[in-house]
Amino acid sequence: MRDLLPLMLAVLAATAAGLWAWRPLHYPSWWYVVGYPFTVLYVLLTWRQVAIGCALTKKKQRFWFTIVPNLVTSTGIVRVRRRFQRVEVTTAPWLGLPRPTRYGWRVTVYLLDGQIPADYAQHAEHLAHAWRVHAVRVTSARPGRVRLDVTMRDPLTRLDTVDASAELLKVTVGRLETGARWVVDFRTIPHWINVGATQSGKSNLANALIVGLAPQPVALVGFDLKGGVEFTPYLPRLSALATCRKESTQLLADLVGVMAQRMIVCRAASARNIWQLPAHTMPVPIVALVDELAELYLMADKSEKDEVARTSTALLRIAQLGRAFGIYLFLSGQRIGSDLGPGVTALRAQCSGRICHRVNDPETATMTLGDLDPAALIAARAIAAETPGVAIVATQDGGWYRARSVLVSEHAADQAAHAHAHLAPSWDDLTSSAAA
Ligand SMILES: Nc1ncnc2c1ncn2[C@@H]1O[C@H](COP(=O)(O)OP(=O)(O)O)[C@@H](O)[C@H]1O
Ligand SMILES: [Mg+2]
Repeated sequence: MRDLLPLMLAVLAATAAGLWAWRPLHYPSWWYVVGYPFTVLYVLLTWRQVAIGCALTKKKQRFWFTIVPNLVTSTGIVRVRRRFQRVEVTTAPWLGLPRPTRYGWRVTVYLLDGQIPADYAQHAEHLAHAWRVHAVRVTSARPGRVRLDVTMRDPLTRLDTVDASAELLKVTVGRLETGARWVVDFRTIPHWINVGATQSGKSNLANALIVGLAPQPVALVGFDLKGGVEFTPYLPRLSALATCRKESTQLLADLVGVMAQRMIVCRAASARNIWQLPAHTMPVPIVALVDELAELYLMADKSEKDEVARTSTALLRIAQLGRAFGIYLFLSGQRIGSDLGPGVTALRAQCSGRICHRVNDPETATMTLGDLDPAALIAARAIAAETPGVAIVATQDGGWYRARSVLVSEHAADQAAHAHAHLAPSWDDLTSSAAA
């Protein structure tokens, strides 16, 4: 036995070292085999304490049947008194079995009487600290229950590479916090608002879109109000590029013209939208990307008022009617609020896709994410400057996600634009083919 002890210790040490080395080598397998079982034990054993610490318990009145020693008689016999007693007990909500997910685990909690999901959303951060995890997200699919989605580490600190999706008007631009792909799909959400402070990753996201759309049979139109410094490298693949407001006003007017012509074509064919037209007459979809939207609304003096009004109206018309006629908007800016002008609030209302990068002031996040879950606003304000490209994405199902775009190197973008230059329909073709 004595001889076996060092051997057993050595085996234990080797196992521990092996488990330790496994983790960085292949985290997913380590997580399912080692990390997750220990986590389940830890969570179940500590849940009561955690629930008390995070104020998720309730005090309940219970009747207890108690036996109280009364007195010891001189004969040494203990006399007892039996009685019902009202006592207050602390009850923790019932916790289901945690299930593993790619980046953590999820668990169902059965609400106590009087609790609502918001109570948990409010304490999500407390829970995250108590469990020492990256984040806890609260959702409620059924009355009386909440689901806690726990991510152990932030998957968005890692950089991804571009992954081109083959479907028309769908681009994988990055990764969601859940580990799923972040897909911008213009067919389901036609118009997008993309907001963030400078250096937060707005232009990078627009670049990722251009790289993803470049191999597809779509026309790309750029409005680069930064004088063209962002989109000029993509010029070979762009059907048109406006680099100042004057050019933008003209280009927008042309786009509205294209839209009007497509309306006539659709009406003549009794089609409600271009997708119902016969294949040979179906016009090519157009994605218009605007960088630094606020510049379109900026007025130095009164003389520019008409121009701004025309620009604003044209954008709004495209946002209202573009979807049916295959014209989609992706609007990037630092602020997209009513302070820019009267048309902006209406424009924003038409954009059902919302992306909020790191912002400097809480109002910008509120403006972009609107009346979503307040937790989305908190998450948007918590985006760190060290992780450019991280954003809160609001999707059509009313949910929201933290996500990070892929980093698009200038070289990759240049290459994509040049390699697919032959796919760019000329602007003249676009404006005249609709008329034909
Ligand atoms: N998804 C990302 N991952 C890593 N770095 C990024 C990402 N997006 C942007 N960056 C970095 O942040 C910098 C600023 O991004 P940019 O898109 O130009 O910001 P904005 O247009 O909001 O001013 C870029 O130079 C890039 O290095
Ligand atoms: Mg930019």
